Amino acid sequence: MNYLTEVVYLIASVLFIMGLKGLSHPETARRGMHFAEIGMLMAIVGTLVSGHIVTWTWIITGVAIGSAIGAAMAIFMPMTAMPQRIALSHAFGALAAVLVGVNEYIEKGSHHELSNFLMSAIGFEVLFGALTVTGSLMAFGKLSELIKSAPITYKGQNFINITLFFTAFGMFVYLIFFPYNPVIFYTMIGLALLIGIFIVMPIGGADMPVVISLMNSYAGLAIAATGFAINNKVLIIAGALDGASGFILSIIMSHAMNRSFTNVLFGAVGSSQVDSSALAEERPITRVGIEDTKFILEQADRVVIVPGYGMAVAQAQHTVRELSDELDKRGIAVEFAIHPVAGRMPGHMNVLLAEANISYDQLLEMETINPTMDSVDVCIIIGANDVVNPAARTDKSSPIYGMPIIDVDKARTVIVMKRSMAAGFAGIENPLFYETNTKMLFGDAKKVLQELVAEFKK
Ligand code: TAP
Repeated sequence: MNYLTEVVYLIASVLFIMGLKGLSHPETARRGMHFAEIGMLMAIVGTLVSGHIVTWTWIITGVAIGSAIGAAMAIFMPMTAMPQRIALSHAFGALAAVLVGVNEYIEKGSHHELSNFLMSAIGFEVLFGALTVTGSLMAFGKLSELIKSAPITYKGQNFINITLFFTAFGMFVYLIFFPYNPVIFYTMIGLALLIGIFIVMPIGGADMPVVISLMNSYAGLAIAATGFAINNKVLIIAGALDGASGFILSIIMSHAMNRSFTNVLFGAVGSSQVDSSALAEERPITRVGIEDTKFILEQADRVVIVPGYGMAVAQAQHTVRELSDELDKRGIAVEFAIHPVAGRMPGHMNVLLAEANISYDQLLEMETINPTMDSVDVCIIIGANDVVNPAARTDKSSPIYGMPIIDVDKARTVIVMKRSMAAGFAGIENPLFYETNTKMLFGDAKKVLQELVAEFKK
């Protein structure tokens, strides 16, 4: 590897780190993405000038096909399909790692150059790479509902999965000491492909974001191993950053959902299908109409909007901005309270509200807004349910007990926009809906908001 390539790789690695740092805050995220993009471009250019290119035909064909797929995904997949898009990217990245690993095995194997170290790197790369390919494709299938998104379970499932994993892992260890055994090598890859399918099968569609960030982590580790296998420092650094950040994100998400990591992976939960009719309590609720909602809002000085998964489903973010503008025109202060796991992926609400050009200054984290909730005149909940469920504070038997929530019940008036009394992701009753200061405004979030905005414009 020449000196220029080494220097370019070093700069690319620094840019990746600056990119990650930027992504830790919404305001610097865009800049962070640009750093990472420049870093990636430099890594590619650095590789192309390294002097190892045998034929440019394959490189140019690869760049053309990859760019066409990437551009199509970026242009045609909507913002709400971001988790699916990320799952596909992981599948492609991991597939690349597997192919490089297989190529190294054939190449070095034919010259009898497979040292123990090299075989550990190649084995790790193809093992984690292969299970990430099928695992990510399963996640993609479940999220886009090409496959049943509810958990698919059967007796002895965890036992089978663990046995499969340890068999593949045993083959990996065997290959480190006896590398020249292609049957074991390719069987291990086959098993890893099966494991990817089997481990994602029992996980429900709604838990897929945790799985996707875990797959992100596996893909990163596979790529770092590729770096060791082909002695490429930028792959080692980028893979390690990717592996570590994906793993940390998975843990953060599990905690924010008050679920243990193992519960997400082995709990076979996450089905968003619930029988809402069985949930509705006998207690009375207070309904409210569009005109009355407008009247209540006009009397307020401070309004807090809490968006949730339903806002994403209804694609109501632009109409939410219109409502916020109408209130702003009347001198009413509007803030948005963002729960860390509102929606179905990290930063889901931030992404949607940013798409609708809502200023970051108006977005407040749960910890910031909660101490001030008792001075809020009206709290409007748009398609959120679990993240505002007071049972998480009081009911020890509740599956979400202990999960931090946005304390909307402390506001003077609470308006809940949703289509019915149906439960949210956790499938549980929400006592908030029966509180005396809560008013239910039923309907599809976008439609209801459009009517409300039209009422303000009259
Ligand atoms: P949920 O608790 O899932 O509730 C969403 C509510 O939106 C539902 O009760 C539903 O009621 C309503 N809704 C659906 N479509 C609607 C539409 N078109 N118009 C109006 N309302 C609509 O959402 P949340 O409060 O955002 O909580 C998120 C949940 O997902 C948490 O339990 C969290 O742990 C979990 N989760 C989050 C993540 C991440 S990383 N964000 C990952 C996995 C799981 P109706 O059917 O009555 O309309």
